[in-house]
Amino acid sequence: MSWFYRHCIRPALFTQNSEQIHNRTMRGLAWASRHKLALGALNTFYGASELPIELFGLRFPNPVGLAAGMDKAATAVPAWAALGFGFSELGGVTWHPQPGNPTPRIFRAIPDQALVNRMGFNNPGAEAVAQVLAKLRADGRWSNHPVGINLGKSKITPLEKAAEDYANSFRVLRPHADFFVVNVSSPNTPNLRQLQDKSALDEILAALQEVNVAASRKSAANNSTEKSAALLRDAATPVLVKVAPDLSFEALDEILELVVPRQIAGIVATNTTITRPQTSDARLQGIYSEAGGLSGRPLRARSTEVIRHLHRQTRGTLPIIGVGGIFNADDAWEKIAAGASLVQVYTGLVYEGPGISKKIAHGLLKKLGQNGLKELRQAVGCEN
Ligand SMILES: Cc1cc2nc3c(=O)[nH]c(=O)nc-3n(C[C@H](O)[C@H](O)[C@H](O)COP(=O)(O)O)c2cc1C
Repeated sequence: MSWFYRHCIRPALFTQNSEQIHNRTMRGLAWASRHKLALGALNTFYGASELPIELFGLRFPNPVGLAAGMDKAATAVPAWAALGFGFSELGGVTWHPQPGNPTPRIFRAIPDQALVNRMGFNNPGAEAVAQVLAKLRADGRWSNHPVGINLGKSKITPLEKAAEDYANSFRVLRPHADFFVVNVSSPNTPNLRQLQDKSALDEILAALQEVNVAASRKSAANNSTEKSAALLRDAATPVLVKVAPDLSFEALDEILELVVPRQIAGIVATNTTITRPQTSDARLQGIYSEAGGLSGRPLRARSTEVIRHLHRQTRGTLPIIGVGGIFNADDAWEKIAAGASLVQVYTGLVYEGPGISKKIAHGLLKKLGQNGLKELRQAVGCEN
């Protein structure tokens, strides 16, 4: 199937504008998400092997997830599960609806199997996404895999008001997802990455945990028995932080200092990079001169380095979601061996097609056997 995609479907798709193809695909997947027969057909072709792992109180049927940025309006949640993904991260969602940057804003660097994008958080806003997700649940179409939401800062909100902006989104979306990712690492919102600075990030995380505590208290107050109140208090929604590959190890260590005081549930490593590979190919030079974040193959090694560093610094105690340049089971295994418990793909899905999650999950299962391991968690950080 992936041979067919690479040699027949992809060349046809790549003759067309990246964003138009993306929008058409999303409309198709949104349609499939409303039709049981279509979901069943997708699952028959693309359903992945079970390779379960438990993290932050959630059960992931396999460790291969959809990375943020693909489903910004949460229109295709059931389809991601049917396509074999073990979880999906929706968004980036911002408090205010916003159109994002002017087009064109995605560019393919085909010889390097990479993308450059400067989307700028185009999304319908937190309240609209909350409504979509509430309807999905009400219609009984909720996904059978964990769903996360990537939170970004609205462009119109000044940096000093960032904590309030993130907290507003978290408050309305919290009842509708299993975990959240604070995205302070996108290169496409002016100055956003300054929020990776320890004190700015501390303020954002404090605001989110305040929402978590208030929501847990409210649930507990509505509950009559003391025992279930205690259970609810413990069930704070997991909040993760997504970091840029361009941060120094010292800057990453400063973020790690917030893990305990701000109850960071995990790190997503990494977002796209603002660096560019050297190339003598004039067409690639043209694409790499576009402003934006680079994803795909050229990002793989740096993102793995960041994962390895985070795993070593935390002695494997902090869950890491590894993302950046994963195209096959070898790439995913590299991230897991370096310390990731889960992995995600975006650019790999564009280049390898919808069979990617099934292929990676199957390959990982084989690798576990070859290494004499029974469970995925035994492989996490095994190179360290
Ligand atoms: C077009 C596009 C849009 C993206 N949008 C977001 C986003 O909204 N929030 C986010 O945290 N990451 C976003 N990302 C980054 C991806 O989630 C991922 O971290 C990055 O692309 C590296 O993974 P990959 O090499 O598998 O693509 C986006 C990436 C692309 C290519």
